[in-house]
Amino acid sequence: MQFSRKDILDIESLSVDEIDFILDTADRMKEISTRPVKKVPTLRGKTVVHFFYEPSTRTRTSFDIAAKRLSADSLSISASSSSMVKGETLIDTARNLEAMNPDVIVIRHSSSGAPHMLARILKSAVINAGDGTHAHPSQSLLDMMTVREKKGKIKGLKIAIIGDISHSRVARSNITGFTKMGASVVLAGPCTMIPKGIETLGASVAYNIKDAICDADVIIMLRIQKERQNSFLFSTDREYAKFYGLNKSRLKGARDDVLVMHPGPVNRGVEMAPDVADGPFSVILDQVTNGVAVRMALLYLVAGGVRDADTD
Ligand code: CP
Repeated sequence: MQFSRKDILDIESLSVDEIDFILDTADRMKEISTRPVKKVPTLRGKTVVHFFYEPSTRTRTSFDIAAKRLSADSLSISASSSSMVKGETLIDTARNLEAMNPDVIVIRHSSSGAPHMLARILKSAVINAGDGTHAHPSQSLLDMMTVREKKGKIKGLKIAIIGDISHSRVARSNITGFTKMGASVVLAGPCTMIPKGIETLGASVAYNIKDAICDADVIIMLRIQKERQNSFLFSTDREYAKFYGLNKSRLKGARDDVLVMHPGPVNRGVEMAPDVADGPFSVILDQVTNGVAVRMALLYLVAGGVRDADTD
């Protein structure tokens, strides 16, 4: 297939064929990270700028590793070390970066829509590494890759997403992505954290966590995003763990071969008990490994110039 997108901004705009193509490309990219020399010349001479306005461990590191494994030149800028602290706007900052001719700008920003705005004005490819509460497409793609790899398919599976749905860009991208690929998505969480009308994205809302988990093939637990909440939406962490946390006892209601996932960072003992996070059903670190492969695929597809994967 010909992949001709300039930018990767959200899951909504990707077709089923494009998602399959990205996941197939990521499957091939994954092998590179297992070689003694983890590097191919595919993006030699290309420049990737990672522009992060919010903290990140997994996304920033894996985009950087992905760029390096493809031999691109890459660098990272954070808001606190850029001239935005002196009052420069996002658009001016991006235009100045573009004047240095990067090929790809990977951006994380607290404002929903910031990557879309940059994509409209920049010639460089723009990849959304998470914008506000809106979208986190590379996270959703790595989640889909992990499920496809472990289950052999996505279509027909029951995916339970549990926790702070209101503030989660991962939830929005995953509802869209998994339903687009033929899974059914069920949500659960405190009623203060389930946004009105979320069903319009294609998910259903369970009455409680037990119903959501019942017969689930995959459980995706979410962190409570206190940094995005401007009022108290539950009383204590202990109360949250009691009513909405995933523990061994609750997990018994799921299928015997359930996958337990979390985009990270995990608040152990709050949304997930430590023995579940580290337990036999957890694929949390497989998600992180697949994050490098998915981000290699995305960088390759928007900057590679060649549209049929050549990873030798
Ligand atoms: N999943 C995720 O986005 O993690 P980071 O915030 O560490 O990048």
